[in-house]
Amino acid sequence: MTNAELLEQKRAVCAACTRCSLSQTRTKCVYGTGSPNAKLLFVGEAPGEQEDQTGIPFVGRAGQLLDKYLFAVGIPREAVYIANILKCRPPKNRDPLPEEEDACLPYLREQVRILRPPMIVCLGRIAAMRLIREDFRITKEHGVWFEKGSFSLCAVYHPSALLRDPSKREDMMKDMIEIKRRYDALTGDGRSGND
Ligand code: URA
Repeated sequence: MTNAELLEQKRAVCAACTRCSLSQTRTKCVYGTGSPNAKLLFVGEAPGEQEDQTGIPFVGRAGQLLDKYLFAVGIPREAVYIANILKCRPPKNRDPLPEEEDACLPYLREQVRILRPPMIVCLGRIAAMRLIREDFRITKEHGVWFEKGSFSLCAVYHPSALLRDPSKREDMMKDMIEIKRRYDALTGDGRSGND
């Protein structure tokens, strides 16, 4: 089976999931979106209202800001894969509960097994605490790269945090530029540097 077929198969399983109580309040399960051959995986926290309505991650205000950063550094959104720790929206966008994360993480693990992305970027503290280190400090450690097996991981500020506190946007831009530099090195998309 191709990656695309595998992801579609797993998406269908996820859409029928009842592993936690969020299945009772969701409109749509938000499995993930992007290229089945992505070299770069972004992992956010959980769907918000717009995502719950559409079934697509990062399409609301935070998503539109993420799109601006991707565009600014020249990473096409459709070339990467975007998913969340939780596939269903927590009521009133509250933080995910540990038991919801435990119930949902197998879906993300499957996505990682299928995609095998050399680069994983956590969007915000919640994803970083699950994927990098339990005591991850986003203010001190955003933009720092960690090697875990065959993966290079880092975390950047969550776009919602940038909406609340625009003073973080300069740091975000620096982190995104480094993500793009590493992405180019992987995909062979680096320019000659002569122009
Ligand atoms: N915030 C997230 O963490 N994920 C989304 O998909 C949307 C907003």
